[in-house]
Amino acid sequence: MLRLLALVQVAIYTLTASAASWIAPGAIWYDSAGARIDAHGGMIIKPGNVFYWVGQSWDSNTSPRIYSSEDLINWDNRGLANSIEWLYRPKLFVSGGRYHIWGQVNRLTQGMASTNIATGYTTYGSPMSIPPDSYTFSDCGVFADTDGNDYWVTSADHNIIAINKINGGTQATVGDRVAYLSLGAYEAPALFKVGSVYFLIVSSKTGYRANPDKLFWATNLAGPWTGPSDIAPESTNTYNSQSTFVLTIAGSSQTTYMFMGDDWDSDGTDQSNYEWLPASVSTSAHSVTLQNYAYWKVNPTTGVVTTSSTGKRYEAEHATIAGRAAVADCESCVTKRGVHQIDRRSNVTFADVEGLGTGERQWMSLHYTVNNATAGDAFVHVNGEKFRVGDLNTRAGRHATVPVSVVLQKKNVITFSAESDDESFEARLDGIEVLDGTEEEIEVQL
Ligand SMILES: *[C@@H]1O[C@H](CO)[C@@H](O)[C@H](O)[C@H]1NC(C)=O
Ligand SMILES: *[C@@H]1O[C@H](CO)[C@@H](O)[C@H](O)[C@H]1NC(C)=O
Repeated sequence: MLRLLALVQVAIYTLTASAASWIAPGAIWYDSAGARIDAHGGMIIKPGNVFYWVGQSWDSNTSPRIYSSEDLINWDNRGLANSIEWLYRPKLFVSGGRYHIWGQVNRLTQGMASTNIATGYTTYGSPMSIPPDSYTFSDCGVFADTDGNDYWVTSADHNIIAINKINGGTQATVGDRVAYLSLGAYEAPALFKVGSVYFLIVSSKTGYRANPDKLFWATNLAGPWTGPSDIAPESTNTYNSQSTFVLTIAGSSQTTYMFMGDDWDSDGTDQSNYEWLPASVSTSAHSVTLQNYAYWKVNPTTGVVTTSSTGKRYEAEHATIAGRAAVADCESCVTKRGVHQIDRRSNVTFADVEGLGTGERQWMSLHYTVNNATAGDAFVHVNGEKFRVGDLNTRAGRHATVPVSVVLQKKNVITFSAESDDESFEARLDGIEVLDGTEEEIEVQL
């Protein structure tokens, strides 16, 4: 048995050796075996030195899937917690010496537990309704308070957010209602605590289309709750995402709060990505503000957040320009020059882009804007292979920096193009940047 465990360990470390280097919000993320990560509407806990991420797996009919990581960047797929299907927004907590996953099945709460956090969860009890009046719900969150109590937060039906105590044990149950909040038509609750202030992040109800998440705060779970305020500029629609959880990383130098959002595609499928961003939190101003980085990481020991220096840059105005596209002044561009009027008859080609050439994925940033994100798409052609940028990163067309992970050879031909049926659609390209592992970490203050 011990020998087998040791072998498994070695296998995991061999896989993580080809490592991703940054959290790149909105981009497709791959696990350590090279498969696309599939864990939506979930959360993370860290009982020891390892982070465990549970989320609903689209490819397994929304069974809860678990990944583990020591750095929040390189994730090992630990398989399904349980083969139960159509369990939405799974959440993990510890009670009665067991790990519990709860989620929504048919608008009720199904519980399951295991003594091993990564595997072997067995369901217990029948699906639970929410006391005191069998309230039903669609979205759920869990909150572990500093006094050891756990709470189940439910939303969406009735336009109410309910907070109920969890009666712990080896088979936990939904306990007494603590709060019943008619704050508005909200869902996707993420509740966390900083000092003596409780913060509740919620989204509006717009299906799988992102909207500006809202923040409420209170000094008592029962309320009064004050809000709403914004956590990101309204026009960004929470950087195209919907809240699912806020992870507290209590480091030796600082405590960092990581917002976890889902970059849902229009149907909530496996094409949905993840929007994780560090947040600035003020308990005196009662504010939570997402900090928008294209690449970032948090040191799990110190809690310190760093972002990346630029990689090797290639300016659009120095590339080969085909069709109607032309060099133009560009106030927001790094060199104040860029290429505009990129459309279905026009493109920009970078002939000698340097890559790792190892067969591993690496990050490349596309710095571009479009005049209407719903009217058309940008494309990137890597050595003749064509990708819709929106298939590689759900921020495509909506943010000026779009990280994509690609396999590059030592020398590469990369063409940027744009397509739309709308004659007035155009993309403007500032340049591209390739991260090759030599970029520096820059510490940021939250
Ligand atoms: C770039 O545009 C030119 C001119 O329209 C076209 O001939 C060429 O095929 C395009 N290249 C790619 C990779 O789309
Ligand atoms: C953007 O494009 C969409 C789809 O073509 C169109 O319906 C909308 O009116 C456009 N918006 C603007 C501001 O032009």
